[in-house]
Amino acid sequence: MSKTIKAIVYERHGNPTEVLQIKTEPWPEPAVDEAIVAMRAAPINPADINAIEGKYPGRREVPAVPGFEGAGVVVEVGANVSTIAKGALVILPHNIGTWREALAVKASELVAVPPEIDPVHAAMLKINPMTAWRLLHDYVDLGRGDWLIQNACNSAAGRAVIQIAHELGYKTVNVVRRAELVDELRAEGGDVVLVDGEKLRDEVKNATGGAAIRLGLNAVGGESALRLANCLAFGGTLVSFGAMSLQPLKIPTGLLIFKDLRFRGIWINKWYDDATMQERMEAFKALFDMARRGLLKTKVEKAYSIDEAQAAVAHAAQSKRSGKIIFEFNA
Ligand SMILES: NC(=O)c1ccc[n+]([C@@H]2O[C@H](COP(=O)([O-])OP(=O)(O)OC[C@H]3O[C@@H](n4cnc5c(N)ncnc54)[C@H](OP(=O)(O)O)[C@@H]3O)[C@@H](O)[C@H]2O)c1
Repeated sequence: MSKTIKAIVYERHGNPTEVLQIKTEPWPEPAVDEAIVAMRAAPINPADINAIEGKYPGRREVPAVPGFEGAGVVVEVGANVSTIAKGALVILPHNIGTWREALAVKASELVAVPPEIDPVHAAMLKINPMTAWRLLHDYVDLGRGDWLIQNACNSAAGRAVIQIAHELGYKTVNVVRRAELVDELRAEGGDVVLVDGEKLRDEVKNATGGAAIRLGLNAVGGESALRLANCLAFGGTLVSFGAMSLQPLKIPTGLLIFKDLRFRGIWINKWYDDATMQERMEAFKALFDMARRGLLKTKVEKAYSIDEAQAAVAHAAQSKRSGKIIFEFNA
């Protein structure tokens, strides 16, 4: 009997719990420049849900396999592949669909992961920690001791910001919507952790001694984004990268005229598309160095098998989680 794999597939866009199916497909065959990767782990990120719903830019042709990130092991290589060997743990590119047991990928697009990093840890470095890295490098020139502020700081991205900022010597004001997270996030390195609310600006002023905050990172939108913007110093920059509240950003004209704030955005998929392999590897090297020391380890609330796709996506859509929902594949 020929070898097969299971893949999670959607044939139409819609509610993930309704449109996802498990399909059996033939074991992939490598082209001469491809490697076959047996998947080990892949998370369910908010963008994956949006893509299945058809609400994400670059709406994919269906049928499609979801999954913007993940890690696996190279089990076979095409005749012309010399850059990567069988047995290597690799991070997959973002545009290929990682929620399947194995896939054929251009070897030149794989990122080899140092062997000390475990596959689950590796599977979640590419999107959130890399976004955090870019947010802290590409927008405002910060020095050691400078402050930044962010919301949704208990998200995977927010926790990566806390750890990378700590590493770079920047100080963070971290805004959450749940008081029970304050101690945990302080223990992870958050200098100040506050619960979002009407008094945020005064509380930030008190906690930082009135320090100038020149960078704000917004993953929520709506009123929460406005409260962050109100905490920024003259000429400060608010970078938006998520809209978890689904509320638009309403910017009072005064913040532009009297505070000269700048409003920017980042889409990490675009950064990957535009970056050279050297630029990508420079950033990955820094992330791998931290990962080897046990940092940037994205918290996991529950791992599911590929057969439990519906339950997994329903769980991932719940708020107040303690970590990511992931798919783990048999080694
Ligand atoms: N632009 C990019 O390239 C890029 C890259 C990476 C991530 N992102 C975006 O960044 C955001 C975070 O991603 P992630 O993977 O780190 O998320 P995650 O780990 O799944 O966590 C989701 C976070 O959103 C919070 N949240 C959910 N609904 C909220 C609401 N209505 N108001 C305030 N907070 C709310 C949750 O708070 P509770 O724990 O209290 O529920 C939690 O902190 C997402 O919007 C994602 O799409 C964008």
